[in-house]
Amino acid sequence: MAAAAAARHYPETRFMGSKRRLLPVIADVVSHLRAESALDPFTGSACVAYLLKRLGLSVTAGDMLAFSYHWANASVANSNETLSPSELIALTSPNPRADDFVRRTFAGLYFSDDDNLFLDELWANLTMLEGQRKRSIALSAATRACLKRRARGVFTYTGHRYDDGRRDLRRSLRDHFVEAAEMWNQAVFDNGRVCQAFHSDVFDLAPDQYDLVYVDPPYFTPHSDNEYTRRYHFIEGLVSYWRDVEIQPHTKTKKIVRRDTPFQHRATVYDAFDRLFGKYRGATYIVSYSSNCLPTRDEMIAILRRYCRSVDVIDISHTYTFGTHAHKVGNTRNRVTEYLFVAK
Ligand SMILES: C[S@@+](CC[C@H](N)C(=O)[O-])C[C@H]1O[C@@H](n2cnc3c(N)ncnc32)[C@H](O)[C@@H]1O
Repeated sequence: MAAAAAARHYPETRFMGSKRRLLPVIADVVSHLRAESALDPFTGSACVAYLLKRLGLSVTAGDMLAFSYHWANASVANSNETLSPSELIALTSPNPRADDFVRRTFAGLYFSDDDNLFLDELWANLTMLEGQRKRSIALSAATRACLKRRARGVFTYTGHRYDDGRRDLRRSLRDHFVEAAEMWNQAVFDNGRVCQAFHSDVFDLAPDQYDLVYVDPPYFTPHSDNEYTRRYHFIEGLVSYWRDVEIQPHTKTKKIVRRDTPFQHRATVYDAFDRLFGKYRGATYIVSYSSNCLPTRDEMIAILRRYCRSVDVIDISHTYTFGTHAHKVGNTRNRVTEYLFVAK
């Protein structure tokens, strides 16, 4: 499908829980609905929101993470602003007036002194950009650069213990930044509809009417840790230069205080889904979920049935074989099934 193929060009961010691999499936499902507007309130990497925009819908994307908001603001809400070559040069130029917060706070933890200086100077240079969307492109490029420059793309450890010599780990943050800015520039297009992005908890978003709501919260599982702030605290801090977050100075990683979400606790996850499905009545819900999580498949159907007349479950690993998933067919050991619930 053309839209899914185009959405594959969206910058790869290595974001935990990204549904990039499932874009063809989601495109297939959405194309059979008569939807004109869509909400993606757990937008994460924003690749699904971007796909929905490619499919011609009026898209609203939101996330409680600030850097995720910038990714969506740069690519989904943005229909015409890009960074020009001269702006890219200005952004990456030395700036003697730059603060030294990154150099002072994170010396020796994640990046070289030169890389830290680059981030301080980049932040100072951002003030010359006009337009919030351009600013979001620059911040998206900076955060992607930080993820690519880091082994495993996370900030849960300090130093370089997972450095396997890959080229990405040897390139400077400046080089990664320039490459990423070009990728985000190329993702910008106008689908002729109003598209917007919010930095917001899903329960604080306005209860507007949408034809489609795509629901992909963090999966609650007793077996593994899916905590976003712990992995991504550095880039979450970077997008406000740590002004909108609180650093925990006693931690080795200098991580920030995390914002809680009811989707990550057994005691609150059921009520959270119930409140969410009650909020956008009349919408078709597409819910991404997985078999090793709670609520279970049957519990999820029961919660959706409180608000929707019909609930179909697409068992992705059985229904679709594509990409890296094909090799798993027939292998039942440790198999996790991914579901799409489609509820109207
Ligand atoms: C599984 S990820 C979404 C992945 C996304 N669909 C993609 O393809 O990249 C879950 C996202 O939900 C966000 N999130 C968790 N709780 C939230 C809440 N209460 N309100 C808004 N966003 C929330 C997280 O910050 C994270 O970005």
